[in-house]
Amino acid sequence: MTTSALGQTIAVDLNGLVFSHPVLAASGCLSTGRDVPSVVDVHRLAGVVTRSITVAPSRGSVVPRAAETASGLLSHVGLQNPGVDEFLAKDLPRLVRAKVPVIASIAGTRLDEYVRLTTALDRRPGIVALEVYVSTSDEEFAGEPFHASPERLNEIVGAVARMSRLPVFVKLPPMLPELVETARVCIRAGASGLTLIDAVPGLAVDADRLQSRLAAPIGGLSGPAIKPIALAAVYQVAHVMPRVPIMGVGGVSTAADAVEFLLAGAWAVQVGTAMLVNPSAPVEIAQGIASYLKEKGISSPADLRGRLRVRGEPAGDAAS
Ligand SMILES: Cc1cc2nc3c(=O)[nH]c(=O)nc-3n(C[C@H](O)[C@H](O)[C@H](O)COP(=O)(O)O)c2cc1C
Repeated sequence: MTTSALGQTIAVDLNGLVFSHPVLAASGCLSTGRDVPSVVDVHRLAGVVTRSITVAPSRGSVVPRAAETASGLLSHVGLQNPGVDEFLAKDLPRLVRAKVPVIASIAGTRLDEYVRLTTALDRRPGIVALEVYVSTSDEEFAGEPFHASPERLNEIVGAVARMSRLPVFVKLPPMLPELVETARVCIRAGASGLTLIDAVPGLAVDADRLQSRLAAPIGGLSGPAIKPIALAAVYQVAHVMPRVPIMGVGGVSTAADAVEFLLAGAWAVQVGTAMLVNPSAPVEIAQGIASYLKEKGISSPADLRGRLRVRGEPAGDAAS
C-alpha cells in the first residue's frame, strides 16, 4: 500500500485492482502516451486511461474540434489514435518507462474489432485493466451506438470479459433511458466495473456566422458543468450495486470534487478537462484528498465510499 506525503495510506482497491491513490487521468486527455507533456510527473498519477484505441489508426475529426462554452469544453476529437499496432510498438513502452499503470481504452465498430483489440492488449506488461468504450456506432446494427442495445452490449462486453484476464471496466454515457439497467447488463456480461460518465452531447453555435462552432457539429461537453450529471449517475448505480467498482468522471477539478464522487459511491475518480488546464491536477487532487481524510480522521478513501446522506434523513455515522 502506498503512503501519501502526509503519512497516510490513500491507496484504493477496486476488487483486486489496486491504485496508489484514487485519482487517474481520464481517457483522451493524455492521448495514447506519445505527447505526454514533460510537466506531468506521470508516475505520480494513480493510472492513465489511454485515449480510446481502435484497430486501425484514426486521424480523428476534422477541425475545429473544440470550443469553449460558458459551461464547459465542447470537443469532438473523433478518437484520433495511432491504431493498436503502433500503440503497442511506440506509445505503451513510453508509458511503461514512465512507471504508470495503464488502463487501455478500446473502441470498435464491430464485435470482431473489440475481440482483436482485447487479444492484442490483454497480456501486455504495463496494462492493468481495459476500459471498453461503447459510444461508437455499431456497423453491424444500423449504426446505433452499442450502449443503445442491451443485447449488443451483452455481446460486446461478454466477449471482451471472457477473453481478458484483466479487469474490464465499461464506460457509459449518462443520457440513457435506463442507466442502472444498462449498468447491470454490463456487470452480468462479465465486466468487473464501470466508468461513469462519458462526455455529455452538446452543440455550440456561432450566431454571427450562422454556423456551428465544431465541424462535427455535436460534441461532448466536459468540465465542471457536467459534474452534477456525473454525480447523479454514480449515485444511482452505486446505490443498487454497491459492490461494483465505479470510477467517477466528469468535472473533477479539485479534491472537494473528488470527495463528492467518493461520497456518492465512486471507488476512484478520473480527471479529464482539468488536466488540459493543469496537467498536475490529479496529483494535487490526490494530495487534497489525503488532507481531507486526515482532517476528518478518516483512515482511507474507501471509508468515504457511499457515505452520502440524503438531506433530511437521520445522520447515522457519517463523517464529522
Ligand atoms: C479532448 C478530449 C478527448 C477525449 N477522448 C476520449 C476518448 O478517446 N475516449 C473516452 O472514453 N473518453 C474520451 N474523453 C472523455 C473523457 O474521458 C471524460 O469522460 C469526459 O471528458 C468527462 O470528464 P471531464 O469533465 O473530467 O473532462 C475525452 C475528453 C476530452 C476533453
